Amino acid sequence: MADRQMKVLWLLHGVNLDMLGKRPVEHYGTVTLSELCAGVTAHAASRGLEVRCFQTNHEGRLVEQLHDLARGDERVDAILINPGAWTHYSWALHDALELVACPVAEVHLSAVAEREEWRRRSVIADLVAVRVSGKGLDGYLEAVDRLAEIVGS
Ligand code: DQA
Repeated sequence: MADRQMKVLWLLHGVNLDMLGKRPVEHYGTVTLSELCAGVTAHAASRGLEVRCFQTNHEGRLVEQLHDLARGDERVDAILINPGAWTHYSWALHDALELVACPVAEVHLSAVAEREEWRRRSVIADLVAVRVSGKGLDGYLEAVDRLAEIVGS
């Protein structure tokens, strides 16, 4: 498939996910963010999706990135997001994400439902088509497959 025909998947990471590889191994494994992005990029390419990676530790920066996508400043056909701890309390993230009219997958490396009580709530759960947690990098690849099916790539 020619590049210009490929659909675009934005891989968005929030707070502290740039520190993967140094975070508790029992929850997050040893994979680094760049390895994660490379793994997702390679797998998505096999499904006809081009990946753009973005990570920030600043909530407002993530909100602005979603605004750019909502305005159509950049092409977006699907979003795979791991917001980190913002998942559990950022209604600002919720309201920005609902502006973007494309399928969204929420992915967590760790099994958030089996950890502390406060991690069990996701404020974006009502906006997402796909939710995967506790499967590490494999969970990201599963989410890519499900998004590819949804967008028909
Ligand atoms: C996480 C789970 C969150 O609870 C945590 O704050 C993170 C990472 C995960 O990928 O398992 O930073 O989103």
